[in-house]
Amino acid sequence: MRGLLITFEGPEGSGKTTMARWLSEFLQTKGYPVLLTREPGGTPIGEAIRGILHAHEHADMAARAEALLFCAARAQLVEQVIRPFLAKGGIVVSDRYADSTLAYQGYGRGLDLEELRRLNRFATGGLEPDLTFLLDIEVELGLARRRASGEAWTRLDALALSFHQRVREGYRAMAAADPARWVIVDASQPMEAVQAAILAHLTQRLGLLLEGHRH
Ligand code: TMP
Repeated sequence: MRGLLITFEGPEGSGKTTMARWLSEFLQTKGYPVLLTREPGGTPIGEAIRGILHAHEHADMAARAEALLFCAARAQLVEQVIRPFLAKGGIVVSDRYADSTLAYQGYGRGLDLEELRRLNRFATGGLEPDLTFLLDIEVELGLARRRASGEAWTRLDALALSFHQRVREGYRAMAAADPARWVIVDASQPMEAVQAAILAHLTQRLGLLLEGHRH
């Protein structure tokens, strides 16, 4: 039995990390075997690569090097963590996945989308999410939220507003092009409304039983 891969995507400050954590805990209380992970990271090698990617001293990183490092971290995560858990029938919830490379390095940096899709296929062995939530938020609001959260301000957060706007538009274009996989959720709503939208789609799209407890 193959499990389910559920991913959260979106611009900075859209609440992906909070929602991914909440959903994995919620599904666990319902009796599902769940693994929460994040990109870049999720493995010792991936976390080391994350450090390189986020460091302000690497402001001169070439866009292609950046794309390859994100994909290297992803390849390690898929092979070491995601595939084995899916093979056991588990649900993997990931805070970002391959679509982030298309949004940031493709729409944001301007690298060729078709080349990046090939790179993603190489890195993941073709493993695609079953469902992807786009937590959509206005760029200024997201960045302001992120600043207020007190989380580390990374090399990528510091890029121009126009970069982050291209990222957001890229996400919206990808979601519109593949509505069978993507769900757009308005992340400027109160947290309870975002959570309710997520649960409604999990039931509708994946048929997950979320009432009561499974065992
Ligand atoms: P986050 O964990 O705070 O979301 O930080 C990850 C940062 O890396 C964020 O700015 C988005 C960026 N990113 C890419 O540019 N490409 C990718 O493939 C991934 C996974 C993340």
